Amino acid sequence: MQEKKIELKFISAHFSELDHHDQKLITNAKESFSTAYAPYSGFLVGASIYLENGEIINASNQENVAYPSGLCAERVAMFYVGAKFPDVKIKAIAVSVLSKSFQVADVISPCGACRQVMAEYEDKQKQPIKVLLHSPNNQVLIAKKVQDLLPLMFKSSQLKKY
Ligand code: THU
Repeated sequence: MQEKKIELKFISAHFSELDHHDQKLITNAKESFSTAYAPYSGFLVGASIYLENGEIINASNQENVAYPSGLCAERVAMFYVGAKFPDVKIKAIAVSVLSKSFQVADVISPCGACRQVMAEYEDKQKQPIKVLLHSPNNQVLIAKKVQDLLPLMFKSSQLKKY
């Protein structure tokens, strides 16, 4: 038996320290709060994806009265890109959050299901997707690739394909 450790690598920064490109993507994510449909949680999430072709795709969380039917902003964004631009590589995704009922103190990181979805698109395109997680106090957590946020991910190569 052997105990093994996994390192989680990320960069912590202030919004003002980021380059123009990253600031623009985060600004897009914040602007996407306006399209969030979150009447049940009051938790607004914006996700913006920067594509290799220069396009920015904006999305937000979409809830439903049948709670499990709703979807996080990250997956709304990712699946839209998968459906509309299947062959265009994703360079980065920025996520920002805002609560209508409380002060969000910490950087919020994507749920496990969103990490799995983002990680699979990263795996598929064989190129890292940078993740920028922005909090209302302008702190930003940056992962150079999704894989850094999801060690031991379940990969399609581990599943027998027919
Ligand atoms: N949510 C996201 O959109 N992304 C996350 O990373 C975490 C949670 C949404 C789902 C739901 O609409 C609300 O936030 C509260 O969980």
